[in-house]
Amino acid sequence: MVLSTGTNRIRTAVFISGKGSNLKSLIKFSKTNKSPISVELIVSNNSKAKGLNYAKIYKIKKKVLSFKNKNFSENKLLSILKINKIEMICLAGFMKILSNNFIKKFRGKILNIHPSLLPKYRGLNTYERALKNKEKYSGCTVHFVNSKLDSGKIVLQKKVKISKNETGTSLAKKILIEEHKLYPKAIIKVVNF
Ligand code: GRF
Repeated sequence: MVLSTGTNRIRTAVFISGKGSNLKSLIKFSKTNKSPISVELIVSNNSKAKGLNYAKIYKIKKKVLSFKNKNFSENKLLSILKINKIEMICLAGFMKILSNNFIKKFRGKILNIHPSLLPKYRGLNTYERALKNKEKYSGCTVHFVNSKLDSGKIVLQKKVKISKNETGTSLAKKILIEEHKLYPKAIIKVVNF
C-alpha cells in the first residue's frame, strides 16, 4: 500500500454503524508500538451508534452523517477526510454501501471486515446462513473494498469451527473474538505489501 507517511503513523478513519467493538480493538491496537496506524476520526451514519462513545473515551474526533442523501453525505465526508488528512479507511460494521465515486478516491486504501469466510456468505445474516447450510466452519475475512459488495481482494481470513449445538448468537460471539485479532493483523499485512 503506497501511503505518504514517512515515519508517521497512517492517519486512519474508522466507519461504524453500531456497537463498535472492532473500532475499540483498532483503537487499542493503534496505541501499541507495532501499529502502523493512528485512529484520527470515527465516522457513523447512525447518531445512536454505541461505538460513538469511544470518541469521547479515547478523545478521537467523530462525525455523523445521515447518508439519507448519499451523494451529499459522501461529498461532505470526502472534504472532512481531506481536512483531517486521512489516508486509510477501515469499515467496521458500517451498514452503508459506499458509491463507486467515493471508493475511487480511496482506491486500495479502504478495508472492511466481514463475518464469514468470503466469498461464501456475502451480505447479511451470515451466521444463520452458514448454520442452515450445515457448514463445519465459518469465520471472518478482512478484504479491500471495491464497488461490489464484500467482493474485494482478500487480505486475511480466520476459520472458526462450528460446534454441534451452535446458534447464530454463539457463532457471532466466537467470530467476533477472532475479528478483533484479525483486523490489526490485516492492517500490518497491507501496510507491508
Ligand atoms: C462485525 O461482525 C463485522 O464483521 C460486521 O459487523 C459487525 C460489527 O461489529 N461487518 P462491531 O460494531 O465492530 O462490534
